[in-house]
Amino acid sequence: GTAGVGGAAIRQRKQGLLLTMGTGSTLSLVQAKLAAARSVTVLTGAGISADSGVPTFRGPDGLWRNFRAEDLATPEAFVRDPKLVWEWYNWRRELIATKRPNAAHDVVAQMERRIERFWLITQNVDGLHRDAGSRQLSEIHGNIWKVRCTTCRQVSDNREVPIPILPSCGRCAGLLRPHIVWFGEGLAEEDLQASDAALRNCDICLIIGTSGLVYPAAGFAAVAKRAGAFVVEVNLDPPQRSGVVDATLQGRAKDIVPLLFQA
Ligand code: OAD
Repeated sequence: GTAGVGGAAIRQRKQGLLLTMGTGSTLSLVQAKLAAARSVTVLTGAGISADSGVPTFRGPDGLWRNFRAEDLATPEAFVRDPKLVWEWYNWRRELIATKRPNAAHDVVAQMERRIERFWLITQNVDGLHRDAGSRQLSEIHGNIWKVRCTTCRQVSDNREVPIPILPSCGRCAGLLRPHIVWFGEGLAEEDLQASDAALRNCDICLIIGTSGLVYPAAGFAAVAKRAGAFVVEVNLDPPQRSGVVDATLQGRAKDIVPLLFQA
C-alpha cells in the first residue's frame, strides 16, 4: 500500500513506521505543498518532545494520569502550597534537564531558516525548540527555565536544578513562581497577537503532537483553516479533527517531520 511513496518513506517503513493505505499520496502532497509554501505556521505540543523522552500529559504514561493538575498547576495550588508546587517543578526540571532536541525539533528549526515567513507556536515549556535553534517562536504556555516574581513581576532565566525552595527574587525578595501559564490563567497578550497573526497569514499550518484539548491552542487549527490555510496534522494517534485538518500523517514526530521538509 505504499507505492509512489518515495524512497524516504519506504526506509521509514522498514524502521516500523505506521504507514496506512493513502499515506503515500498524502505524504507527497504535503512535501510538495511545504516545498512551495511562502508562509508556514507550526503548532507543537508534548508529542514532539515525547521522542526526546519528555513525558506527555494525557497519554497512557501522561503526567495527568499520576498527578492532579488542580493540586500542582493552578494559581490556587501555588497560594495553598508553594513548596509542593515547586517540588513538582523541580522534579520536572530534573527530568527535562538531560533531554535533547530530536530530529523533529531540528527540522522545525531549519524551516525557520528556509521559509520566507515562518512562525512557531509551541505549548511546550521544555525549551527544546530553542535548544534546536528556533528563534521565531511563541512559547504560549511559558518556559520551565524561567521564573517570575509574584511581587515585582520580573521574569528571569533560571537553570538551577534543583532550585532552592522557596526561591526569592534577587531584586525585591518576593516569592518566585515558575513562568508557566497555569490552568485558569490567560495567555500573554503578546503571544496571543503573534499567534493569531501567524495563523491568519499562513499558507500551511502544521500541527505536531498535540491532543488539542487545551484552549486557546485547541482552536488554532480552525483559525488557520478559516483564513484559508492548508492544515496538516502529525500525530501518533489516528486522525481526530477531520473537520478542520486537510491531511493527517500518523506516526512519531521524529520519523514523520523529517520526511516532510528537506532543507
Ligand atoms: P497532551 O499530552 O495532551 O497530548 C500529546 C499528543 O501527542 C497526543 O495527541 C499524542 O497522541 C501525541 N503524541 C505522543 N507521542 C507522540 C510522538 N512521538 N509523535 C507525535 N505525536 C505524539 O499534550 P499537549 O497537547 O501538548 O499545559 O497538552 C496541552 C497542554 O496541556 C500542555 O501545554 C500542558 C498541559 O496541561 C501547560 O504546561 C500549561
